[in-house]
Amino acid sequence: MIGGIGAAAYLPVLLVLGFSPRTTDIGYQPRQPVEFSHAVHVGQLGMDCRSCHTTVDKAAFAAIPPTQSCTNCHAPGGEGPSILADSRELEPVHESASTGEPIDWVKVHDMAGFAYFDHAAHVNKGIGCVTCHGRVDRMDVVYQAETMSMAWCIECHRDPSQHLRPLDRVTDMAWTPEDDGTTQEALGRKLMEQYNIQDSQYMTNCSLCHR
Ligand code: HEC
Ligand code: HEC
Ligand code: HEC
Ligand code: HEC
Ligand code: HEC
Repeated sequence: MIGGIGAAAYLPVLLVLGFSPRTTDIGYQPRQPVEFSHAVHVGQLGMDCRSCHTTVDKAAFAAIPPTQSCTNCHAPGGEGPSILADSRELEPVHESASTGEPIDWVKVHDMAGFAYFDHAAHVNKGIGCVTCHGRVDRMDVVYQAETMSMAWCIECHRDPSQHLRPLDRVTDMAWTPEDDGTTQEALGRKLMEQYNIQDSQYMTNCSLCHR
């Protein structure tokens, strides 16, 4: 039987807590306190996701960068390299650097607390950011690209082979298997073995995500 005692006892709680309206909001795109653009910083400047989201391949949570990672390039008042020093859009960044108060970024994705997700577990098994977050390198303002619902998670967990990629391509938004002279089918089959991916019974067990 799938789940066992733990999940069975958990089920009523989940049913009461469930149907959170936020979770299937494809396109949810809150306004941010700074007009920070991934299209500029990733798409044009070519920065890697991990240079800002530094914990994404080490921990469950993908860190939102502290102001310090902005002031490396946008330092306040002559304290270092200051790209677009007089930009009004950068005033909140300079203010945050001076006061030490973090920038109040608005969360885009907000999965319910009763489901467990882990970035490192995915990124280190060859699931790319683009698979779950879409073409972030083209977004001036980040929006939610996928439902992030249980059905969506499980569809991949039944057969991840269609989504596996080489580990050095996980942050590459434009990569296709054809770039490496292969097809997703052939590559997926190879990587399922190489990464030692668990079978579908394990991957769809309730207690994997509801702990
Ligand atoms: C220069 C630093 C920087 C780089 C590089 C960067 N990000 Fe971000 N990212 C941010 C900041 C700041 C935020 C919070 C503001 C926002 O949502 O735009 C953010 C937010 C996000 C969010 C939304 C988080 C939430 O609230 O749910 C996602 C998803 C994301 N980034 C993915 C990526 C991906 C994928 C890449 C690489 C293709 C990337 N980021 C590269 C700085 C960066
Ligand atoms: C590696 C250097 C670098 C880092 C780090 C960096 N930026 Fe930038 N940023 C740039 C450059 C270069 C531009 C100008 C791009 C252009 O318009 O040609 C820019 C432009 C901007 C603009 C647009 C300003 C305007 O008036 O058009 C904003 C806002 C901004 N960055 C915010 C941020 C924030 C917030 C962070 C930290 C999460 C950050 N940047 C990190 C290099 C950087
Ligand atoms: C298998 C799908 C998946 C992959 C792959 C993935 N993410 Fe996420 N990401 C999520 C989910 C789900 C959330 C919401 C988590 C929550 O609310 O607890 C999220 C949230 C985030 C956030 C907000 C902070 C947080 O951890 O909640 C950032 C930033 C982010 N992702 C960046 C990235 C980057 C960068 C990559 C690639 C290196 C990446 N993600 C790969 C599914 C994924
Ligand atoms: C595109 C494919 C894909 C999607 C979408 C996806 N996953 Fe996964 N997930 C994987 C793969 C691959 C693994 C690694 C399996 C392994 O290590 O054998 C994994 C592993 C996990 C693990 C086990 C982590 C550990 O090591 O304990 C959890 C928990 C998990 N996923 C939760 C989720 C949740 C929750 C969602 C939806 C919000 C989700 N996943 C969406 C492919 C996916
Ligand atoms: C791969 C991860 C994963 C697995 C496996 C999984 N769930 Fe879920 N479950 C989720 C996510 C993600 C949500 C939605 C969280 C949210 O609303 O943000 C969810 C939501 C729920 C809800 C709330 C109602 C709803 O549909 O939103 C119930 C009840 C539930 N799960 C029960 C189960 C049961 C029973 C099993 C085993 C048969 C199971 N789950 C297996 C990830 C998973």
